[in-house]
Amino acid sequence: MCGIVGYTGKKQVDQILLDGLKTLEYRGYDSAGIAVLDNNKIKIIKKEGRVDRLIEETKISDTTGTCGIAHTRWATHGKPSDENSHPHFNHSKNFAVIHNGIIENYQSIKASLIDDGYIFSSETDSEVVAHLLERDFDGDLFNTVRNVAMQLEGAYAIAVVSTHEPDKIIAVRQETPMIIGVSQGENILASDLSAIVNHTNTFYRLDNGEMAVLTPSDTTAYNLDTGKRIVKEMLTIDWDISQAKRGGYDHFMRKEIAEQHEVIENALRGRLFDDGQVRLTELENIKDKLINARRIHLIACGTSYHAGLVGKYIIEDLLRISVETDVASEYRYRNPILTEEDVLVVISQSGETADTLAALRLAKERNAPVIGIVNSVNSSIAVECDSVIYLNAGPEIGVASTKAYISQLLVLNILALYLASIRDVKVEDITEIAKDLLSLNSLAKKLLSEDVVIKEIAEHIKDHNSCFFIGRLIDSAVALEGALKLKEISYIHAEAKEAGELKHGTLALVEKGTPIVSLMTEVSVSDKMYSNIMEVKARGGHIILLTNDQEATSELADDLIVIPKIHRYVTPVLSVIPLQLLSYYTAIIRGNDPDKPRNLAKSVTVE
Ligand code: G6P
Repeated sequence: MCGIVGYTGKKQVDQILLDGLKTLEYRGYDSAGIAVLDNNKIKIIKKEGRVDRLIEETKISDTTGTCGIAHTRWATHGKPSDENSHPHFNHSKNFAVIHNGIIENYQSIKASLIDDGYIFSSETDSEVVAHLLERDFDGDLFNTVRNVAMQLEGAYAIAVVSTHEPDKIIAVRQETPMIIGVSQGENILASDLSAIVNHTNTFYRLDNGEMAVLTPSDTTAYNLDTGKRIVKEMLTIDWDISQAKRGGYDHFMRKEIAEQHEVIENALRGRLFDDGQVRLTELENIKDKLINARRIHLIACGTSYHAGLVGKYIIEDLLRISVETDVASEYRYRNPILTEEDVLVVISQSGETADTLAALRLAKERNAPVIGIVNSVNSSIAVECDSVIYLNAGPEIGVASTKAYISQLLVLNILALYLASIRDVKVEDITEIAKDLLSLNSLAKKLLSEDVVIKEIAEHIKDHNSCFFIGRLIDSAVALEGALKLKEISYIHAEAKEAGELKHGTLALVEKGTPIVSLMTEVSVSDKMYSNIMEVKARGGHIILLTNDQEATSELADDLIVIPKIHRYVTPVLSVIPLQLLSYYTAIIRGNDPDKPRNLAKSVTVE
């Protein structure tokens, strides 16, 4: 949550900062602001609302300068407003600060600053940093920032500029991400790679308790506690900028749905072979523990959690080993039964979700091996887990996750097959599963080209206040993801229910015309599902049937979506695509921006 960017070099900084903010806007879009150093003065321009409003504002302001910092906000402390926007100034306007995270002890710091006569102009936790810098300034910017950071508790990625040392940016990281891009005659920092890839492909990652000093000619990292210089490993970005652009699509979400057939190939490449052999060299280091593991915990948030729910069905069914799936925000606080004989699998697109990271650390405290299924290379989760299986899906920008979910489903399939192979579990239908996984690319491509029918269905549901998603077994897990997608971008209330549970409450909400997206791909329970659909239909529900039964007719369904019939473990990859498209088109028809749903952000780095 919140995106930060900073640049020092020889070029005009305003455009660089604004471009950076545009790419980071998915991290929060309540307000945006920049601070630029010029002639020993700092100029701050900040505005409530999207980065585009800030861009308009900068057109009528003088923002000349070659060093600056910028921020796009997802509000935590204080409503979205101009005053609460970052950067924040101290009273004398010689320090400017941007912050991503939450300073948990800000109230006591604020009280002591107010006692000392400091006046606050915002309701944010972050503003305390600006005043602390003024109060504690000892003539050396690095020392002062370090001393101030040592007073802070919580999660923060902070960047500071000051008129005292005008071409310098000082950064500190504790828990929230910070990447430093290294180049000739210029250096840049940002919350993630998408904001630096335009300038350089060489970077290093600040870890917790580390600081960085950036000047045009140099960047050096330090340990926050000791103040000593540290050597960081230089890394290379291996994707190109075009992947982080919309490429002719109206929205990132639509582009990311369209990319899914390529994403399928990237997730499977080198991991699955025609004969059903799987290779996950990433897990060699913990293979013995996996062979002997008693239980598997699949922990994640949001869409990644929904992928974990599908994973539970597959792994339990295939391996007959108990799998627990939970949302990280509950799991971390409920004292789970987790020992060194268990394996924790954390699933995260961003690799930065605070609750998921906390679950990972809990497992490490308890000596349980941790596997990360992660998209963002070198993210916190990727770095801290024992073994990481990358999704290789490329940058996902749309707040509503689509292609990452599909990749997660594939990797969970591969993980299940890998576990079966090392634990000597005979998989009767291994060649069928492998064949179906490998055919997904072309099947998905075909499905994606048939979106006309989905647009029509979107027209049918666009004016309803509520929509229900029902299914049984694996379909019930996919139903949860379908409902989440619809609610988060269309703002129609959407609820998923196991079809067998309908009679225990949800059925009371079904009226004439209520849209009921009914997933019916699980053959073993299709009769039961049929009856549940009839029960809803008898109460006037409008049935949108998603099935792999090629004989299905409109007798049962008011609207019909037929997907190819493939192995049940693999089916969710196809069944979710029409649901993603349905949410996308419904959002568009209702005039919403699907890439930036209200109140949400892509990377949830606060609890
Ligand atoms: C946010 C995003 C979702 C995502 C969830 C978990 O809510 O909007 O798309 O599924 O966080 O994020 P992660 O990066 O850990 O998968």
